[in-house]
Amino acid sequence: MEPRTIIEPFRIKSVEAVRFTTREERAAALRAAGYNLFRLRAEDVLIDLLTDSGTGAMSAAQWGAVMQGDESYAGSRSFYRFEAVVKELTGLRHVIPTHQGRAAERILFHCALKAGDIVPNNNHFDTTRANIETEDAEARDLVIPEGRVPALLHPFKGNVDLGALERLLSTEGPRVPLVMVTITNNSGGGQPVSLENLRGVRALCDRYRKPLFLDACRFAENAWFIHTREAGMGDRSPRDIAREVFALCDGCTMSAKKDGMANIGGFLALNDDALAERARNLLILTEGFPTYGGLAGYDLEAVARGLEEVTDPHYLRYRARSIEYVVDKLVAADVPVLRPAGGHAIYLDARGLWPHIPPLEYPGVALADALYLEAGVRSVEIGSLMFGMRPDGVEVPAAMELVRLAIPRRVYTQSHMDYVAEAVLSVAKGKPPRRGYRITEAPKVLRHFTARLEPLEG
Ligand code: F0G
Repeated sequence: MEPRTIIEPFRIKSVEAVRFTTREERAAALRAAGYNLFRLRAEDVLIDLLTDSGTGAMSAAQWGAVMQGDESYAGSRSFYRFEAVVKELTGLRHVIPTHQGRAAERILFHCALKAGDIVPNNNHFDTTRANIETEDAEARDLVIPEGRVPALLHPFKGNVDLGALERLLSTEGPRVPLVMVTITNNSGGGQPVSLENLRGVRALCDRYRKPLFLDACRFAENAWFIHTREAGMGDRSPRDIAREVFALCDGCTMSAKKDGMANIGGFLALNDDALAERARNLLILTEGFPTYGGLAGYDLEAVARGLEEVTDPHYLRYRARSIEYVVDKLVAADVPVLRPAGGHAIYLDARGLWPHIPPLEYPGVALADALYLEAGVRSVEIGSLMFGMRPDGVEVPAAMELVRLAIPRRVYTQSHMDYVAEAVLSVAKGKPPRRGYRITEAPKVLRHFTARLEPLEG
């Protein structure tokens, strides 16, 4: 037969119970958490879609590799295995392990930026933006206009606006030390960047002599979308596509907590010898010796194995389908959702659902909190709470008010996804809140992680 059902391409060897709570318990937990889902105890969550980062299930082969970890401080065998896999995949010369993606970002930006610089990207994610702003540089988002309209269909909504990038490079080129592209574009809905667009960015980088860095956290999901959506790519394997994508760049930052299929880890990889030396020296100061970079030998083994598993077409087909499955159900019920389905998450359009709540009353927070209260599902706001505070302390609404339901890798089954869809429908079809929230306390930088809020409706 030609199967229509796309199954989970694994069997389950070990399980972890989830904990059910009552609505009253969830209401109390929300109050205690200052209505910020980051502040909940994970035990009070039934289905945790806060993030796909570090929350995946490792394979039996990865756990087996963990036992092979070489914990030598310097020159560990596990490092050389990790380095070989990253080099085979990326073709980049220097491989610098870090404890997670943001450490790679901090080291790269601290070594490569100076005050007043501009770093273009399709969309910077929160930590990337913060690590640039910490250097008194500017993180500038240049995604194509289609990438800012949730309901609009386009196969590569993560693409960089090449015209805007060229204008920036021709007018303010001296202030741009490097160009970044995030694959897939997390803050823009987990949307992919096409190979054609990446070639266009490369050509501009060549013309203006700028290094191109990828924020490569979800490179395999991006390769899958190129494989399925881009003309002429259907016959090429996701790994082959991923290798071509990496061949276009001069370096990358990577959080191995996503497409590294590990619970911790990351790396900075690059070709520039002098920059690599500066990065390694900074690494020693804050992360560790260059052959472990803040990780245990067994973590390096898990990441090495994960980077091999993640480009399996059966895995990627199931991964993309499990997200599209929920999006299809929501679209069929007219729930405003970012389309097409992204690579790692479902993004609800809170502005579209509850347009009466102004952006600076955080409609995304209202929706995420309602979903938790209704069904114990934890999501995350990607809107004006996360991105509304400029470095100069002025609050401006974010481009979109989204609620992200990020799907951990290989953790939840189809019935969990049915439950999630049912929960969203119940909230979306129920009585909307009249008002949103106000912030009662928040730090200046990355406020969404720890802010406390209160509902304006009483
Ligand atoms: N870049 C992107 C595009 C990311 O999505 C993340 C993390 C990072 C960099 C930083 O990596 O967490 O290993 O330090 N995103 C997670 C998320 C936290 O929930 O989307 P990290």
